[in-house]
Amino acid sequence: MASSELIKKLNETIENVPDFPIPGIQFKDISPIFLNPKLYEDVIAELAAFSKGKIDAVCGIESRGYLFGIAIAVALEVPFILIRKQGKLPPPVISEKYDLEYGSAEIETREGQIKKGQRILIHDDLLATGGTTEAAAKLIEKQGATVSQFSFLIGLKDLKGEEKLKRFGAEVYHILE
Ligand code: PRP
Ligand code: MG
Repeated sequence: MASSELIKKLNETIENVPDFPIPGIQFKDISPIFLNPKLYEDVIAELAAFSKGKIDAVCGIESRGYLFGIAIAVALEVPFILIRKQGKLPPPVISEKYDLEYGSAEIETREGQIKKGQRILIHDDLLATGGTTEAAAKLIEKQGATVSQFSFLIGLKDLKGEEKLKRFGAEVYHILE
């Protein structure tokens, strides 16, 4: 559990922008965190403490999942693997399709970077509907590895993303709700 001081500081720092990118949506802009290196360090320490000794590699989801994901992996001295949107990584890749509200999307990892039997942390900045994270978890299981943990900076309760992740039997952590 993050300290109330860290939670307070993050709540003061993250900007809530109404009606972006479309009317009715409130956007959480995390970019001010990166203006404050000490706060960034505290976030990484918090997320690294959750995963310490429990994982063999971190998978980060493009693009905001990279902002904290790589630093978590470096702090824990484990490999970092990029999960990218379709068409960005050179072949050979392993892919997973998933449904969006309108249409579908696809995410990929380079073949061979995730090893069979590895315990994986999936990290992203935000859990909303859970669609992206669920597809990432399927992509990892397809490669014979285990999804041991999910971590996020923010978990949005209303959208029930956490329910989608239950079937993977992994620990879930977010600093803010
Ligand atoms: C946002 C966010 C998560 C995802 C959460 O990424 O960073 O990755 O949406 O939504 P979900 O739980 O409903 O799937 P986005 O696709 O906007 O791209 P970005 O990270 O490149 O900004
Ligand atoms: Mg994202």
